[in-house]
Amino acid sequence: MIKQAIIPLAGLGTRLLPLTSVIPKELLPINGKPGLEYILDECVNSGISEIIFIISKNKESIKKYFYNDKYYKNLIKKKGDERIKKEYKKIKKFKKMIKFVYQNSPRGTGDAVLRCQKLIKSNFFLMLMPDDLIIKNNCSKSMILLHKKYKSSIIASKKVSKNDVSRWGILNVKKINRKNFIINDVIEKPNKKEAPSRYAVIGRYILPKSIFPILRKQKPGKNGEIHITDSIKTLIMKKNKFIGHIFAGKYLDCGSMSGYINSGIKISKL
Ligand code: G1P
Repeated sequence: MIKQAIIPLAGLGTRLLPLTSVIPKELLPINGKPGLEYILDECVNSGISEIIFIISKNKESIKKYFYNDKYYKNLIKKKGDERIKKEYKKIKKFKKMIKFVYQNSPRGTGDAVLRCQKLIKSNFFLMLMPDDLIIKNNCSKSMILLHKKYKSSIIASKKVSKNDVSRWGILNVKKINRKNFIINDVIEKPNKKEAPSRYAVIGRYILPKSIFPILRKQKPGKNGEIHITDSIKTLIMKKNKFIGHIFAGKYLDCGSMSGYINSGIKISKL
């Protein structure tokens, strides 16, 4: 069973400046709650019981958000407000599930994942990218069910337009049915000509523990970063099974300013 999830949270958030000069992008409110809480709700509702946050020294306020007990207790004592009590209860529930590891220099997603090696207990774990919100349908839950069936690694995917392929990891695929396919290869942010399809990697992955020794040796790729995509490619070449899952929910990109604004509007209309 998949019980552990990891969330890379050490990113700089430069695309959302000036908002992110003080507040981590994952704590920015989307329709009244931090974007990160949508991701945590997805985890909890898919049966995850332990969540590892990869943060940095500059993003300690994420830890503080969940470790502000004294503040809440004093406030509740003074005001006894039911709404505050309810919010505090929710935060306490999350706090119990979260562990923290640090990535103090932004060396890429692969490097972030490597920080979790010692904490991962079972053969597979879930990773969620906090910029990628998926609403209306729990993507992680569907992926965990798929993993149970095929005992393989799973990557969430969505067809993107040809002009956008260079923003994503792009999959080389062999279809098995309308929703799922076998992944034959993956290329990080290819140009239009290099792209083997229009199926993009969206930020939900079920990965095997065996990725850690590969990550340890992973050379920097595009833009000098250690990419998880490059280590996934190695695993695929070594005949590890990876299934692509075209998720049913609606995708919202919270990592750019226009996407962030749009997410709030879309969620408010639900
Ligand atoms: C990362 C991955 C990329 C994937 C994307 C999904 O890119 O490297 O393969 O398609 O997440 O959001 P980033 O968004 O960090 O540039």
